[in-house]
Amino acid sequence: MNLLIMGPPGAGKGSQAVIIKERYNIPHISTGAMFREAIKAKTKTGLLAKEYIDKGELVPDSVTIELVRERLQADDTKNGFLLDGFPRTIAQAQALDQILSEVGKKIDKVINLVVDEEILVIRISGRRVCKTCGETYHIVNKKPKVEEICDVCGGELIQRADDNVATVTNRIKVYYEKTRPLLNYYDDKGILINIDGSGEIEETFRYVEKIMEDANDLT
Ligand code: AP5
Ligand code: MG
Repeated sequence: MNLLIMGPPGAGKGSQAVIIKERYNIPHISTGAMFREAIKAKTKTGLLAKEYIDKGELVPDSVTIELVRERLQADDTKNGFLLDGFPRTIAQAQALDQILSEVGKKIDKVINLVVDEEILVIRISGRRVCKTCGETYHIVNKKPKVEEICDVCGGELIQRADDNVATVTNRIKVYYEKTRPLLNYYDDKGILINIDGSGEIEETFRYVEKIMEDANDLT
């Protein structure tokens, strides 16, 4: 199954994606995570992306589309994939359709996490990520066993560079302006499914499971 997970910043896309990846054995492709890796490695793409990410703006379509085009050529996407944070503009969505149609594929389902803005801000301000492996935590909702230490690899937990108030406010604004209109794009194709993402992580995942079961019943 070829899936997209959508929703505003802090909606829980990454948190759900980690569980979906494990359960359904499909790669989790997050453009945000790919850019963060590129920034860490100080590549040309990373240096360029940083300028936009630090301001909460979108990285230019041309750069982002090429990154995804290349990633979707990898062998591990043969039996399905989960895209998180891409597409974010109509131009990216059209490019994705084109990339997939060239290899006889399409997006099967778009899962949209619906979460109110006050909750987004609480989630983002309390998020901590492992500096080494990228595992995500929350200071209240998903605490590590030992404070400030990653359960998975023992790495140090830090705040994401773009999780400061000014950047978050702009990320949310950019989401409503540029990305939210994409929901109509997928609704028109009849593949959009909205789910309530305001409950606990496990509760939201139960809705995802239901979508996957229903999709399997149809095949
Ligand atoms: P990206 O990394 O995609 O960030 P985002 O969309 O802003 O979303 P987040 O990762 O902040 O939130 P999430 O929904 O994954 O939430 P999470 O699960 O972590 O993009 C970053 C930047 O890269 C962009 O601003 C842009 O500049 C650039 N970029 C990326 N893709 C691009 C593209 N296609 N085009 C152009 N530019 C692009 O959860 C958040 C917190 O809440 C965590 O602490 C978690 O533990 C907690 N939490 C999650 N779910 C729950 C729950 N159900 N209950 C309680 N707590 C929860
Ligand atoms: Mg994320």
